[in-house]
Amino acid sequence: MFITFEGLDASGKSTQAELTAERFRESGENVMVIREPGGTELGEKVRSILLDVNSAIEPAAEVFLFSAARAQLVREVIRPALSRGDTVICDRYVDSTTSYQGYGREIPLESIKAINRLAIEDVIPDLTFFIDISIEEIEKRQRAAGIDTDRMERAGRVFFERTRNGYYELARTEKRLKIIRGERSPGDIFSDIWSIIQVELHRSSVG
Ligand code: ADP
Ligand code: TYD
Repeated sequence: MFITFEGLDASGKSTQAELTAERFRESGENVMVIREPGGTELGEKVRSILLDVNSAIEPAAEVFLFSAARAQLVREVIRPALSRGDTVICDRYVDSTTSYQGYGREIPLESIKAINRLAIEDVIPDLTFFIDISIEEIEKRQRAAGIDTDRMERAGRVFFERTRNGYYELARTEKRLKIIRGERSPGDIFSDIWSIIQVELHRSSVG
């Protein structure tokens, strides 16, 4: 099974990705957790360029960089793991490009779709959890964690509003994308996520 987590920065994706992985491992599954951009040697190099506050990157170049990292990850890591029967959990994937570069940076969606298709081919998630939190909550969490913002996080409030809206638009057309209310305790959020996974596991075993 291939599961991805999406949402704005600090929405709790990695927390939920880890909880999900742990639960799968308890039931004896081989699980791989990956973070995007990254997960390969090339991907980690591209990540450091993309998040560096000193990088000057044009929006069109940004799409290709995120997608280059993903194209490598799909072929080097994700597809082989899924072929072995492993469960793959990805902290961000192709919907991040649609929402951040398509809606956030306002790159034409036709171009984004074509680039996404080239990057992932047929490696489409079975389930995607969009953990939704408000922009105010993001700012609160970032202040609480006391972390320095990276290049993407400095894009500003209006950018994040557009990006959040992008996820809502995606949820309208993509059945695999589930909106999860993220301003609750990690345990409550996980309980919703796990129920949805159970339904999907049942559906794929009977269908
Ligand atoms: P992401 O991977 O989306 O950036 P993280 O899981 O790393 O998110 O969480 C970002 C910050 O928010 C961390 O400081 C984490 O402790 C905190 N956090 C995670 N889940 C919750 C939650 N449900 N409620 C409040 N704070 C949370
Ligand atoms: P990261 O530190 O991994 O953020 P988070 O913990 O919120 O996931 O940084 C990744 C940043 O890159 C984040 O701001 C989202 C952005 N991003 C895109 O703009 N497009 C993409 O395709 C991906 C994968 C990430």
